[in-house]
Amino acid sequence: MSELNNIALKILSNGKGILAADESTGTMTKRLDAVKVPSTAENRLLFRETLFSSSSMSNCIGGVILYDETIKQETSKKDKITELISKMGSIPGIKVDSGAKTLAGSPNEKITEGLDGLRERLKEYHNLGARFTKWRGVYSISRSYPSKLSIYSNAHALARYSALVQESNMVPIVEPEILMDGEHSAKECYEKTSEVIKKCFEELILHNVDLKGIILKPNMILAGNKCKDQIPNEEVAKLTLRCLKNSVPSEVPGVAFLSGGQTETQATENLNLINKYNDSNFILSYSYGRALQQSALKFWAKDINNIEDTQKVFNHRAKMNTLAAQGKWSKELEI
Ligand code: 13P
Repeated sequence: MSELNNIALKILSNGKGILAADESTGTMTKRLDAVKVPSTAENRLLFRETLFSSSSMSNCIGGVILYDETIKQETSKKDKITELISKMGSIPGIKVDSGAKTLAGSPNEKITEGLDGLRERLKEYHNLGARFTKWRGVYSISRSYPSKLSIYSNAHALARYSALVQESNMVPIVEPEILMDGEHSAKECYEKTSEVIKKCFEELILHNVDLKGIILKPNMILAGNKCKDQIPNEEVAKLTLRCLKNSVPSEVPGVAFLSGGQTETQATENLNLINKYNDSNFILSYSYGRALQQSALKFWAKDINNIEDTQKVFNHRAKMNTLAAQGKWSKELEI
């Protein structure tokens, strides 16, 4: 088994998933503003250190995606953040793109940037302890979007990124995210997601990326949040599975879904159903940001020094999702 395949499998083993704690300072500031906690470097670290030292890090969270600021910070005990994560039994990762910018040629769409100087930055992150990375391409659905140009150019960037990451001995998370925002139907989401994922794999193969050493991070197949015809969760699960089986090569060891604005329980319930119906060989787990952190953040904001009880809230959410990643979750387990 290759080293990269080993890392990918370890991150997603036994129902484990990924904590996406890689919000940029701007996004984290929005999250902290919403719960009325000042967004200082100290507070951003305190919240994250609280999560990273929770007991669920050893049995539920296989990997943590960090942001550049966090990977360079020290814990209150003067350890490197990556050392804390490794000590807890999880694997540190890092977001390496520099964000989605206006796509020249189709200015209503986005292209993710960050390839310039990436080889050097990857070396630095590897030295800091990162063993996997993330890059997110973002697409929205409307009558004429996503365009071929955005599908092609984001797939190309994801593939160039992945090749560089594997060259640096890390596992790339390939994240093409079709946003939930909009009036589109679940059928349109299914069609566009399939097209986007297929193009990504075409480019990954062209760039000689080892598919056994990546993790795919897609959206689930959902109707847009402004669509009148919402579909039942069972249908979300079945369409998501069908889409993956038709567009993801079988060498890919694992898929870790993003939550994309679903509520915490919705994201858990859908993941559980996906695993109940899973008749593929893919490991199907989670790489959630909001759906893992929301209630912990709200609870923490009431008293930012109440570490222990905040960790209980986070541990519960992590446990629910790890059960869901094995198809073993049920509503009664929620408190
Ligand atoms: P959400 O789960 O909040 O969508 O975040 C996941 C993520 O990493 C988006 O890039």
